[in-house]
Amino acid sequence: MTHPALEVRALRRLFRQGDQYLSAVDNVSLTLQPGEVLGLVGESGSGKSTLGRIIAGLLPRSAGEVWVDGVALPQHSRSGDFRRRARTGHPVQMVFQDSYASLNPRLTIGESLGEPLMIQGARRAEIEQAVEYWLTRVGLPAEAAERYPHEMSGGQRQRVGIARAFISKPKLVVCDEPVSALDVSVQAQIIQLLRDIQREQGTAMLFIAHDLAVVRYLAARTAVMYLGEIVELGDSPALFSVPTHPYTRQLLAAHLEPEPGSSAALDTVAAPAARALPLSGDRGCRFAPRCPFVDTGCRRAPPWLQLSKAGTEVACHRLRVVEAADC
Ligand SMILES: Nc1ncnc2c1ncn2[C@@H]1O[C@H](COP(=O)(O)OP(=O)(O)OP(=O)(O)O)[C@@H](O)[C@H]1O
Ligand SMILES: [Mg+2]
Repeated sequence: MTHPALEVRALRRLFRQGDQYLSAVDNVSLTLQPGEVLGLVGESGSGKSTLGRIIAGLLPRSAGEVWVDGVALPQHSRSGDFRRRARTGHPVQMVFQDSYASLNPRLTIGESLGEPLMIQGARRAEIEQAVEYWLTRVGLPAEAAERYPHEMSGGQRQRVGIARAFISKPKLVVCDEPVSALDVSVQAQIIQLLRDIQREQGTAMLFIAHDLAVVRYLAARTAVMYLGEIVELGDSPALFSVPTHPYTRQLLAAHLEPEPGSSAALDTVAAPAARALPLSGDRGCRFAPRCPFVDTGCRRAPPWLQLSKAGTEVACHRLRVVEAADC
């Protein structure tokens, strides 16, 4: 029986700030099938990285469940457990925005790439073969194995980051803004490389990005986050051509006709910036303060996901009113 590559159920993550708790991720549920790419978008502070890091096993969750290929991820309490697991045979690997920080500066590229395989107990010859294969696969010369991270350009290091994520054959790769720190001239090449490798390996991918054009290009489905919650989720063609949630509409309107690889950032256009909310008792829709369709009912209870006419799932009390306003 094939399991989903990823199942997230009612996931929540609280952060303590002073004497109160902020909920950075709240009641998030989603599923990814094997080989599927899910895009995750939303303005700065909406909880995308927090969600990605929990799934990758780099951050503990406060509540909820994460299943990878049918196996529940344990709830660890010590961050060391996460780091160890992420470095070894964790079934989810991550490609980070900052390729320099994600590589150990004291290890050669070959050592960094071989590390996960070594910890898994692979033989030396196997490791050398895999390192050479993956360096070539990501467009680097085999001699790059002898170099150190500081001797490479940002684009080359991100190629290494991609090789390192895929070398241990994970079930899922989480990419968190993998090209936003790179020169615009190399962004498209790296995106293309990621797409080719993901397809060829059949690995599921959670792709976090500010660039909506890139998400639309890569991801068959897209989830939109706002203040820790998923407000809209569905097939990318439907979501991008008929955005339904008022927040999705604002987000897309702020990104009229971006080119793939363009550096347009959500934060600069989707003001005012959202901030994680203090945890309080009953509360209404988090988008209510910014919503042009708000009415009193919106402030009483959080909305649940309903199917929109476009076929996406939308968390909005006023869904039918919003849809009618379009006609
Ligand atoms: N270690 C932490 N301690 C306290 N608060 C945190 C911590 N990490 C994240 N937060 C808060 O959680 C919320 C979500 O942050 P997160 O980094 O996940 O957002 P994001 O969507 O990835 O933003 P960006 O697009 O800027 O990368 C923010 O309000 C942030 O300030
Ligand atoms: Mg982030």
